[in-house]
Amino acid sequence: MAYAWSDSLSTGNPSVDAEHKQLIQQVNRLLEAMKQARGKDEIQPILSFLGRYVDEHFRHEEAAFARLDCPEQKANVRAHAEFRKTVAELVARYQREGASPSLTIELKNRLGDWLVSHIKNVDCKLGAIARAA
Ligand SMILES: [Fe+2]
Repeated sequence: MAYAWSDSLSTGNPSVDAEHKQLIQQVNRLLEAMKQARGKDEIQPILSFLGRYVDEHFRHEEAAFARLDCPEQKANVRAHAEFRKTVAELVARYQREGASPSLTIELKNRLGDWLVSHIKNVDCKLGAIARAA
């Protein structure tokens, strides 16, 4: 089942939300292409895009919340650093092994599920703190 953006994922920051929507859409594209065992010519560009976009998005989001001096903001930066490593690891694994059912499951758990739960539990909380500040 594809991931869907909903109001429950809104941080209240329109440009952060727009980037989250784009991330969810690209993760859905990736998982669909993996499930159908599409060729490297289709999957590699999505992975490359995601790697770049995640990086840009995190920098942008960290800057958007940088003025907040709260534990959530520090936890967010730490979580982003961890996730960057996860993305690099999964991309390297794809390059070594190609598409497989086990890598598809791992991408779903460690990329898709992580993103949605991070948005819900960390980014939305930061958005609420930013609005209250
Ligand atoms: Fe975040």
